[in-house]
Amino acid sequence: MEREGGKPVAVVAVVTEPRFTQRYREYLEKQKLLDRQHRVEKMPDGTVALPVLGETLPEQHLQELRTRVAPGSTCVLSQLRDPRPSKAAQGCAPARRLCLEMSRWVEGRGVTWSAELEADLPRSWQRHGDLLLLNEDCFQNKQWKNLEPELWETVALALGVQRLAKRGRVFPNGTRTPAVTLLHGDHGWVEHVDNGIRYKFDVTQCMFSFGNITEKLRVASLPCAGEVLVDLYAGIGYFTLPFLVHAGAAFVHACEWNPQAVVALRNNLEMNGVADRCQIHVGDNRKLKLSNIADRVNLGLIPSSEEGWPIACQLLRRDTGGILHIHQNVESFPGKNLQPPGSSKMEKEHWPYPQKIITNEWENGPTRDFRSKLLSRATKLEWQRWAASAETRIAILLQQVHGKPWKTQILHIQPVKSYAPHVDHIVLDLECRPCPIVG
Ligand SMILES: C[S@@+](CC[C@H](N)C(=O)[O-])C[C@H]1O[C@@H](n2cnc3c(N)ncnc32)[C@H](O)[C@@H]1O
Repeated sequence: MEREGGKPVAVVAVVTEPRFTQRYREYLEKQKLLDRQHRVEKMPDGTVALPVLGETLPEQHLQELRTRVAPGSTCVLSQLRDPRPSKAAQGCAPARRLCLEMSRWVEGRGVTWSAELEADLPRSWQRHGDLLLLNEDCFQNKQWKNLEPELWETVALALGVQRLAKRGRVFPNGTRTPAVTLLHGDHGWVEHVDNGIRYKFDVTQCMFSFGNITEKLRVASLPCAGEVLVDLYAGIGYFTLPFLVHAGAAFVHACEWNPQAVVALRNNLEMNGVADRCQIHVGDNRKLKLSNIADRVNLGLIPSSEEGWPIACQLLRRDTGGILHIHQNVESFPGKNLQPPGSSKMEKEHWPYPQKIITNEWENGPTRDFRSKLLSRATKLEWQRWAASAETRIAILLQQVHGKPWKTQILHIQPVKSYAPHVDHIVLDLECRPCPIVG
């Protein structure tokens, strides 16, 4: 049942009532009979068709489904004409198409197609409208060099885009500018709409992390009505804009030292109609001359925003204090952190969380179940441990900067994304208040 090109014109499916879909799916998956390449389809009469592998489904499975898996369910075999590819199948289709196109094109240029070349093709990328951003780990084989520049046009065509760029490493110079090279096309400007906010920027000059979307959404929902905010690492406005557009901030001071990001930030503030409530401070935020103005400071820099902590403390209002949102990459190697917090001297002095249960269970010798629970908990313990030490250090800084004692309190620890194996990007919401003067 295959058309030219490998796409089937029909697949066998087992049809049942919608309320039994989940049970059917689980059974078919367990029996390795579910066709994952095609979508489960809703039929015109309200029933649901689950595609299965092979030419038919043996009667024994139909019996099982009817009598044991979902008693009382209608269970009939049917054919799905023109089946739609599943999301998973769609995901790998472009990579496959690229492989076919490239092998044909390369051979046409007298170069032998090899396993090395195939392994060097990209398998994942970032799509920004009609621009595709490739990761740095592809097209590294020397043979590709001789095929440039036509090579890039061919890749772009195969992947259905007009522009192509390739990422290098993020420069460790603080600008977080990715070394992106435009391979095909005449400019790197792209546009995104996130949560109703429009962002435009040049991918060759500024970074954009799709992984930060959860934090952008969270920021958008924070109660900032009437507040003055400072965004110490504003970039193109990833957080400045949600603070202004959705969270109701009265005013944002946005700090940014990358001139290209500043151009994009200015444009994005205009485009979203909030430029009158934002002042951009171009340059190194550590040299900012402002103090005693902020209800909230956002420190959105990873791997760490520690260099911005002193200025953040200086910016908080001396009378009421405020909240810091501190980003950090935290490492947590499973197994390394099994020792519960509270055992070291520093932690004994500062650790705020009771750890009794963990200690007792551990001493009795961990079962496998408990051990895996402990490992996943250990990841969180690393976050808590880092947050506790940040809290202590910020309290000290606040006292130094303002010349009087402050109280700090961990409000929340928010995971943003997994940055690398065993490295999590998290955000600590820290409340900082000046202690009332007694007597
Ligand atoms: C990670 S990027 C953008 C951050 C954005 N908040 C996010 O998470 O998507 C950090 C930005 O901070 C800027 N930056 C880093 N250090 C800075 C400093 N000392 N002063 C001003 N801007 C700085 C970089 O140029 C970059 O645009």
